[in-house]
Amino acid sequence: MKAVVITDFGAEPLLTDLPVPEPGPREVLVRLRAAALNPFDWKVADGALKGAVEHDFPLVMGSDGAGVVERVGAGVNLFRLGDTVYGQFMNVARGRGSYAEYALVSEDGKIARIPDDLPFTVAAALPTASATAYQAIEAARLDTGQVVLVNGASGGVGQSAIQFAAHQGARVLATAAPDVAARLRDLGAHETLDFTAAPVAEQVLAAHPEGIDAVLDLISHPGDDGTAALAALLKPGGRLISTNHAADVEALAAREIHGVNLSSNTSRAELEALAGLAAAGKLRITVDSEIPLADAPAAVARARSGHSRGKTVILP
Ligand SMILES: NC(=O)c1ccc[n+]([C@@H]2O[C@H](COP(=O)([O-])OP(=O)(O)OC[C@H]3O[C@@H](n4cnc5c(N)ncnc54)[C@H](OP(=O)(O)O)[C@@H]3O)[C@@H](O)[C@H]2O)c1
Repeated sequence: MKAVVITDFGAEPLLTDLPVPEPGPREVLVRLRAAALNPFDWKVADGALKGAVEHDFPLVMGSDGAGVVERVGAGVNLFRLGDTVYGQFMNVARGRGSYAEYALVSEDGKIARIPDDLPFTVAAALPTASATAYQAIEAARLDTGQVVLVNGASGGVGQSAIQFAAHQGARVLATAAPDVAARLRDLGAHETLDFTAAPVAEQVLAAHPEGIDAVLDLISHPGDDGTAALAALLKPGGRLISTNHAADVEALAAREIHGVNLSSNTSRAELEALAGLAAAGKLRITVDSEIPLADAPAAVARARSGHSRGKTVILP
């Protein structure tokens, strides 16, 4: 099978041929019809999990994917041949990922069935970004009418987070370059802030001098001062959720701000719920581009720049 692999940490992604893997006991072999890029994919390739988990090289890149169950191992009883499934396929200890024509996953893993009317491309785009968005907005504990800033709103996580926050009745402030602002307002953002024009914190302060209730920060990293500037916007009792572990939880607590460094971790039940929302049109996913597997290495290089207008989907 064709697959995009790395042969070591930090190595260039490479399109190569690998044997189609055999499902072991309670494993499912999925013929992937779509896979989706996430920043985590290249972060793992660069060694984000080095030291924490064993890695088996060549390591197939990628986590998220959707496809059809082609073979099942002994003892599988949750899935059958021909089931359409989606979820997370990354297993670095076994060298497994989703940028490939086939992927193996444990039937107890993070996979779920796809509702009939949900395209593979949309299903593949859901797991990491939308599960993270869902969990981040849950962690923000928004009440009706509260104001939340989504910093990094134009990407995969941000676009879903806007929708979940708006659904909770919050007033959503979303950062966006001008070309994507209308799209984010259509998804439920009440105000958009052009992060390319002026610092986001200054813009929020000007529009909401009384303070806001929550910040979902998808952009700041440990060591930069982005999160602290955004935390200064919060009222006492406010909540700051960081997806890049940039929240200094103790320092925030001293100011009566609840900080959360989120590590998302989805489940079959959550995946079923997300797919159901997407199939019902209640969660809208922007597939920004669809590319062949051979173009995945170039797409990974582009993704490193941090620019996106939704999800990049690979068609293996
Ligand atoms: N902890 C976890 O469990 C977890 C899970 C998922 C994701 N994450 C992290 O969360 C972050 C977001 O993920 P994603 O999948 O949404 O990424 P993404 O799809 O690449 O989106 C990033 C978005 O941020 C925008 N952006 C870039 N610079 C910005 C700035 N200075 N201010 C405001 N927006 C800016 C980009 O817009 P332009 O294209 O206009 O530049 C792009 O739309 C990543 O760092 C990812 O690693 C963590």
